[in-house]
Amino acid sequence: MSMGKLRGCILLLLAIQAGHGRAADSGFSSEKASKLQKFVNGLIDCRKYVGMSIALVKDGETVFAQGFGYRDRQNRLRMENNTSISIGSISKGFTATLVAHAVSKEQLKWDQPLRDILGNDFRLMDEFRTEKATTRDLLAHTLGIPSFIGATMGIINVTREELCMKKLQHFPTKSDFRAKLEYSNFNFLLAGYVTEKLRRKTWENDVTETLFKALGMSDTKVGPKLTSADWQNTAYSHSIQDGKIVKNPEEDILP
Ligand SMILES: *[C@@H]1O[C@H](CO)[C@@H](O)[C@H](O)[C@H]1NC(C)=O
Ligand SMILES: *[C@@H]1O[C@H](CO)[C@@H](O)[C@H](O)[C@H]1NC(C)=O
Ligand SMILES: *[C@@H]1O[C@H](CO)[C@@H](O)[C@H](O)[C@H]1NC(C)=O
Repeated sequence: MSMGKLRGCILLLLAIQAGHGRAADSGFSSEKASKLQKFVNGLIDCRKYVGMSIALVKDGETVFAQGFGYRDRQNRLRMENNTSISIGSISKGFTATLVAHAVSKEQLKWDQPLRDILGNDFRLMDEFRTEKATTRDLLAHTLGIPSFIGATMGIINVTREELCMKKLQHFPTKSDFRAKLEYSNFNFLLAGYVTEKLRRKTWENDVTETLFKALGMSDTKVGPKLTSADWQNTAYSHSIQDGKIVKNPEEDILP
């Protein structure tokens, strides 16, 4: 799909800093490292995984960080120790952390109605949800809205603002408000939009400044587009077609 459509969505790449050379003084011996390497390589063969990265952190130190398998299986390009991988929905954890940061800075209360923050033009599918929904509902997936992951999201070519303020209210509901956990990407899009309104910066800038910079995640990137330079060391997604593992076109990276 075209990433141009995904202005409301998220693509997040993580790269693990290689921590080699520290094994000896970290308590993670080279013997343990080679056992782990053997195990993971076996796992990749046996489960037909394409590639993976593993990082072990002990007392704040990276004692092991290694890429396994392929970042592009078709062209036999290995997963390097510092290959970026798109993390899809794991980015929800970053959004949740931004919300928690806003709460810690007293910019927001967990149980403050969204309408207080987004104004009277904000609407959800019914009056009850519109009045009562809070960021707690968003992060706990209790809004009862459907997920529409994948294809359907791609069809919606709108900004985050249009999606949250104009479109969402017309979606059907999936379950009653606060009745059960109903996983939906839209909960987190909305949570990201709430932080944008409160903190007057885009979700992309906020996550970069507040989290990546603070944590020294200098190889981590967020945004809808990858450059051809990025693709030099980014893992492709793969799928199984007719029993064969094939590389998906790069546009197919979905949040
Ligand atoms: C990648 O990391 C592993 C484990 O930490 C290490 O043994 C290996 O030498 C590293 N490879 C490169 C190219 O740095
Ligand atoms: C990743 O590691 C390779 C060596 O394994 C090195 O040539 C390359 O510059 C590194 N890239 C980044 C972005 O650190
Ligand atoms: C999506 O919307 C933008 C701005 O409204 C427009 O420039 C672009 O052509 C649209 N893309 C598609 C695939 O409809």
